[in-house]
Amino acid sequence: MRPRATLLVRHAREMLTMGDALPPRDAKGTWDPSHLGLVHDGAVAACDGVIVAVGTTAEVERAVELAPDAEVIEAGDRVLAPGLVDAHTHALFAGDRAHEFSLRVQGASYAEIAAAGGGIAASVRSLRACSDEDLVALLRARVARMRSYGVTTVEVKTGYALEARHELRCLDAMAACAGVVPTFLPLHAVPPELRGAPDGRARYLASVRNAMLPAVVAQGKARFIDAYIDGPGFSVAEARPVLEAARAMGLRARLHVGQFEDVGGAELAAELGAASADHLEHVSDEGLRAMAEAGVTAVLLPGAAFSLGQTPPDARRMRALGVPVALATDCNPGTSRTENLTLMAAFGVRQMGLTTVEAWHAITRAAAVSLGVSNCGHLARGAAADVVLFDLASWEALPYAFGGPVASWSSARAPSPQARRFGDS
Ligand code: NIG
Ligand code: FE
Repeated sequence: MRPRATLLVRHAREMLTMGDALPPRDAKGTWDPSHLGLVHDGAVAACDGVIVAVGTTAEVERAVELAPDAEVIEAGDRVLAPGLVDAHTHALFAGDRAHEFSLRVQGASYAEIAAAGGGIAASVRSLRACSDEDLVALLRARVARMRSYGVTTVEVKTGYALEARHELRCLDAMAACAGVVPTFLPLHAVPPELRGAPDGRARYLASVRNAMLPAVVAQGKARFIDAYIDGPGFSVAEARPVLEAARAMGLRARLHVGQFEDVGGAELAAELGAASADHLEHVSDEGLRAMAEAGVTAVLLPGAAFSLGQTPPDARRMRALGVPVALATDCNPGTSRTENLTLMAAFGVRQMGLTTVEAWHAITRAAAVSLGVSNCGHLARGAAADVVLFDLASWEALPYAFGGPVASWSSARAPSPQARRFGDS
């Protein structure tokens, strides 16, 4: 019996299935569009939020039984692709830090601004003042805007709460938003109320390990743990015990590493079998080799490098060393106030040395793999029906036509339980 379809998107001049993971970089730098799973006159059929057929329009129409009230979308000259996956954001924040950007442009450093009471501490004060309803509304609005860029799955970190009750409230808000993968980020900074205390740092580390972490695990909403392993953040020695305890409780790591200084975070990510090491503006070849060996994805954040005026990391070097590469917005009020993942793809190509084929992978399949959401980031039978039509003349136009909202249609994502959305991996 042919499967029933309630949604059919058909006659796309180009469809990208992103079917296979990208192989290691080849001599030509992986320009071959066959790595995109390119189908001409492509179509996708779905039922109850799950894809039931993918192929040419003729193949899909033969394969499925269309329900009488099925929605049929004519894709035409648009590019049909899986919903994009933003694998690193701090999108649950309140307030604005535009003035810090102005100070940086005038020469102040991120560390100087933080030491003067701005930075993460400023966002902590704003977030803690929000009601539960505000938190959900803030996040839903941002996730909706991300949808206009074609993003249907978003990783979101805590880390502007830094206190058990508020961290749990943030994770509750994330669980109320469809398409969000929540990450617990306790080691983002020492909270403002403990910063001045002589043993404040040690007390905070102990409270994260002994109280906050068990409470978050008991709540059961976080999928990952993160720590900011960097000069202005936490050392490997400080973060390791917390991350090891989290791993023993079932939370895998995705880590902020080497944004300002290489303090050994890439090696720690490899040692812990982390899902990802992110930023990597400062990383050694040894660190990258360790990541490649352990299968740790490099999640690169061109928006942060742009906003901080830094030299962007060399993604080509990472690919050449065998490290899987994803791109993400790092959407946050301090260092990357953007919701636009397709713009990050353009930066990845023009400023970090990725090919356009690699950039598509970096915002779909590779990002989904790093988040463990194997039903997202590609179009295949059984995958989530996160289907987007991009207003692009061809896949090649992704970094060429940069900056605008490019998703003119996206399959509606019914608010369904996390377990069903992401329960397969
Ligand atoms: O990924 N540097 C650490 N975390 C964020 C910035 C957070 C903030 O400044 O609010 C980042 O760049
Ligand atoms: Fe970040």
